[in-house]
Amino acid sequence: MTTPSQHWNTIFSAKTDPELGWYESNASQTLKFLDLIPQSQNSTVFLPGAGTSVLVDELLARGHKLILNDISDEALNKLRSRIGMNDRLTWLHHDISNPLPDGIPQADIWIDRAVLHFLLEEADIKGYFTNLHSAVYAGGYVLLAEFSTAGAPKCAGLELHRYSVEEMTERMGAAFELVKHEDYTFINPFGDPRPYTYALYKKRNG
Ligand SMILES: C[S@@+](CC[C@H](N)C(=O)[O-])C[C@H]1O[C@@H](n2cnc3c(N)ncnc32)[C@H](O)[C@@H]1O
Repeated sequence: MTTPSQHWNTIFSAKTDPELGWYESNASQTLKFLDLIPQSQNSTVFLPGAGTSVLVDELLARGHKLILNDISDEALNKLRSRIGMNDRLTWLHHDISNPLPDGIPQADIWIDRAVLHFLLEEADIKGYFTNLHSAVYAGGYVLLAEFSTAGAPKCAGLELHRYSVEEMTERMGAAFELVKHEDYTFINPFGDPRPYTYALYKKRNG
């Protein structure tokens, strides 16, 4: 049986970035939300499924420290070859539905584009949100960008759990307040529309 890690490694080793269905040539939609966060410059950003996204380059250029996680070591190796080693980077090869290892620094901002929606089992979704809660400082921010309920039922050959902003907000819980949300239709590299729900949350102090 193919493990999720093997599944993603096969995709990342077979395709160049522009051949990936979720590839964005720029991260402007995500950066638009990041710009709503006061004093975000130089803060630490946790990417729970970084893939090979150009967002990484953009965040580095803005001076952020990054925690780059992915279940695919192939994706992380490609990313490492592109951006090189840097003392502002923490690398993590981990299934984000499982408890985070000790010693991972806390983050000011968590940005998930198209990762959470691959978790189907309730225990895995709960594990993801437990990690998110513990990884983000009080006063920090979380951006979730997942296929909306109007979105395609599958991506990368996998079934999806699609999200409304109401479900995101319920799962984020009382510790987070919704700052802004938006329906956004991403046109993928093959010209197909992919409706997403973007939602930015702030973690309450105390
Ligand atoms: C659709 S891609 C999105 C990648 C990147 N966020 C972007 O916007 O380009 C999904 C990413 O999540 C990773 N992934 C899938 N399931 C994961 C899990 N359980 N834990 C960590 N990463 C996971 C995949 O390896 C892949 O890099």
